[in-house]
Amino acid sequence: MEPRLICIDKRRISGRMGGVMSLRLAVLGSGSGSNCQSIFNAIADGRLDAEVVIVLSDHEDAYILERARQHGVRAEYMDCGGFKNKFPLEVQEALAKKLQELDIDLICLAGFMRLVKAPLLEAFPRRILNIHPALLPAFPGVEAWTQALNAGAKQAGCTVHYVDAGMDTGEILMQAYVPVLPDDTPQTLHARIQVQEHILYPAAILSAISRL
Ligand code: GAR
Repeated sequence: MEPRLICIDKRRISGRMGGVMSLRLAVLGSGSGSNCQSIFNAIADGRLDAEVVIVLSDHEDAYILERARQHGVRAEYMDCGGFKNKFPLEVQEALAKKLQELDIDLICLAGFMRLVKAPLLEAFPRRILNIHPALLPAFPGVEAWTQALNAGAKQAGCTVHYVDAGMDTGEILMQAYVPVLPDDTPQTLHARIQVQEHILYPAAILSAISRL
């Protein structure tokens, strides 16, 4: 039987009236939120001792927000001022303040397509994770699975890494390999990578929690 892994954070034991509390997560995403769902699932079936306190998206109609509501989790839209890719510093500052007020321990980027900068990085040092659909450092950026196919790669995969100010450049925490098949299309390859992502992300979050 798979062992049930439990994280006990000593700072929390002393800080919360002597009780052992689950670690508090915030999830940021721009799209469907299947990785966020994998975190919900891991918490529900006892693989991950944590609580998703808030889910935020830069797209008002992103399905990740609907998934959060269905799980009774606070879901909020972040208005990025009409910019397509930019993550305005004042939005990041307000977000850092909000997440500190919510006593968030770890921020999980799950398909969030804007670059995080100093306001969040300084407020949450080594406490922001990202999942990327490639074996970093290969193929950073958008549609990594298409990049892998176009480059003729034999192996694709996914990576969970700590976030720094670069694009998909932070220290790697965990990776999973996915073979590229001769008849793969971008869609079939991404679908198989996502199967691995949904296993990898909860496991990597658990690993990150144990290092806090
Ligand atoms: C995932 O494949 C994730 O790795 C990728 O976006 C997808 C989001 O899917 N992220 C990036 O490309 C970040 N550079 P989801 O919304 O179903 O979790």
